[in-house]
Amino acid sequence: MTELALIAAKAKNDVIGDDNRLIWRLKSDLKHFRALTMGHPVIMGRKTFQSIGKPLPGRSILVLTRDPDISIPDVAVVKSPEEALERARIEAVKLGVKSIFVAGGGEIYRLFIDQADRLEITDVALEPVGDATFPPIDPARWKLAKEASFTKSGDDEADFSFRTYLRR
Ligand SMILES: NC(=O)c1ccc[n+]([C@@H]2O[C@H](COP(=O)([O-])OP(=O)(O)OC[C@H]3O[C@@H](n4cnc5c(N)ncnc54)[C@H](OP(=O)(O)O)[C@@H]3O)[C@@H](O)[C@H]2O)c1
Repeated sequence: MTELALIAAKAKNDVIGDDNRLIWRLKSDLKHFRALTMGHPVIMGRKTFQSIGKPLPGRSILVLTRDPDISIPDVAVVKSPEEALERARIEAVKLGVKSIFVAGGGEIYRLFIDQADRLEITDVALEPVGDATFPPIDPARWKLAKEASFTKSGDDEADFSFRTYLRR
């Protein structure tokens, strides 16, 4: 049985990006993202994929779009959340892993949060203006299972905490 995990970095005001780009420099979070997702299927929206610009190496990437004409080398293009999950589950079995990650952006987190088993959240101590947000994390549905806080260093422009939430 596969589990579904959403992975996101969000500011205090839930902002995750603006104008289809990330809006902070946080190298520690990029390393954290890489370590958790490596070797796994990763579902993302077409806008997030365009913002990254290429398939993330070492992961099986599935891109959600309603555009019937899009085809992307080395990426599985999927047309619905159901197709994304079905294809990602097949990939997880092939890769021999238990988890599927959903890596954003805002629209895509909202499509999957109600079905997710786990949230891997980086809370960033900033309050930027942005047009993409993470949906509310309802404490009645999610319990904090793990957290670790860090003070900013040379590679990071803000303090941050890694928090894991599990479905109650
Ligand atoms: N901080 C973080 O952790 C993090 C992580 C990821 C992304 N981001 C940021 O989030 C922003 C992008 O988020 P976003 O909400 O604008 O876009 P998005 O969620 O990345 O992608 C939205 C696109 O997904 C497709 N889509 C949505 N619902 C669908 C459905 N039901 N069936 C099929 N396809 C569907 C559509 O693609 P088509 O238009 O092609 O049909 C839609 O335009 C950027 O600023 C990015 O930097 C931040």
